Amino acid sequence: MRKPTANLEECKQRRENLKTLAQGAAVIIPSHTEHIRNHDVHHSYRQDSNLFYLTGFEEPESVLVFRPGMTPETVLFVREKDETRETWDGFRYGPSLAKATFQMDATYVVDDVVEKAAELLADVEKVYYSQFRGSWFDKAFKKILTAVKIKKGRSGKGLLPVYDAYPLVGELRLFKSDYDIQQMRTACEISSAAHVELMKNTRPGVSERELHGLFIYEIMKHGCAREGYGSIVAGGKNACTLHYIFNDETLRDGDLLLVDAGGEYNYYSADITRAWPVSGKFTPAQKRIYQKVLDLQKSLVASIQPGVILKDHQAKAVEGLTDIMIDEKLLKGNRAELIKENAFRKYYPHGLGHYLGLDVHDAGAYELDGQSRPYEKGMVVTVEPGIYIPHNDETAPMELRGIGIRIEDDILVTNEGIENLTIKTPKEVAELEDLVGSSNS
Ligand code: GLY
Ligand code: MN
Ligand code: MN
Repeated sequence: MRKPTANLEECKQRRENLKTLAQGAAVIIPSHTEHIRNHDVHHSYRQDSNLFYLTGFEEPESVLVFRPGMTPETVLFVREKDETRETWDGFRYGPSLAKATFQMDATYVVDDVVEKAAELLADVEKVYYSQFRGSWFDKAFKKILTAVKIKKGRSGKGLLPVYDAYPLVGELRLFKSDYDIQQMRTACEISSAAHVELMKNTRPGVSERELHGLFIYEIMKHGCAREGYGSIVAGGKNACTLHYIFNDETLRDGDLLLVDAGGEYNYYSADITRAWPVSGKFTPAQKRIYQKVLDLQKSLVASIQPGVILKDHQAKAVEGLTDIMIDEKLLKGNRAELIKENAFRKYYPHGLGHYLGLDVHDAGAYELDGQSRPYEKGMVVTVEPGIYIPHNDETAPMELRGIGIRIEDDILVTNEGIENLTIKTPKEVAELEDLVGSSNS
């Protein structure tokens, strides 16, 4: 038997919390879809974040049907035990062991899901299910809704109303429990230490791929199962590609290296970006603009507290970055006009940050009743201002062309203000210059 990754008492508490939001409804959460990588090789499997959040169950071809206040309330559909398949692919719980281990009221084999789920949905008023996200379960869901309608005969009621489950569970996931926070602290500490190893091992001639491999090695050595997202290891002008994925060039003297990478620990992701000089020494122009972005990033982190509106915080970032762009002769004109015209987007095309948790771009609404919401205690967010100057931008000063800088920390909002979960990742100029290239290997 495999030991569950999740804290199952925590999962039970989350289902309790969901009860109040979904009275009279059924919530259906299927497992993540398996994907072929090439021929008969699958991409490595990771459970759907919502199913993991609510059950801790990690196998594919599984479905939770949750009916607050009804009997049975928690029903999990899972794969049958199968000795032959387990010889090839490893352990499966099967219905009876899954019921006992994951504290379900009932479990069935997944092959019966259409028939059984149609019975379970007979008396609910509505159903929460995230359709059209490419799930393997969409086809079964359509059959279930049809079967429920047929069962009701000539009621004139039509199909059960369907609501998206993603924002429903997202509102719970947005507010981290003590347990969530502990996992995130660990993910961030491991990832910070891995960034430091990359700094130490950076020198001209090393490849982006080698450093990417080192990051994976370091996070896995310390307990992460995988990266939280595809790492960006971008030397020189590659840093201006926001989601640079190739990681296959050789680092050059005189360039900056931007690394955006985070480990995933017990399914919780870190998300850290740092930029440092390949040679260990910033050029004067690199140092000047880096320091400006750093000062702004620190002031943006410090200004978070419960009640600050996300949109206002974003506006502060835009103002600060526009000031830097004017100061560095990237933009000409009046700050307010430039902001109104979105001129800053040329060099800062993304947002200030996002929620962080089981997904790197985590669940949770950014607006309530059409209004930007405030930071609240228990949220974890990233703060990641950046400036990217294309290498072929003939309007930019020569010394700045091809520079891409982003500085990203992960911030827990507390009653008092904040806790910076990635505080141990160096970002001061002197710290970086000391560390870079300092490994003996
Ligand atoms: N690593 C993706 C992001 O920073 O949003
Ligand atoms: Mn981010
Ligand atoms: Mn990032």
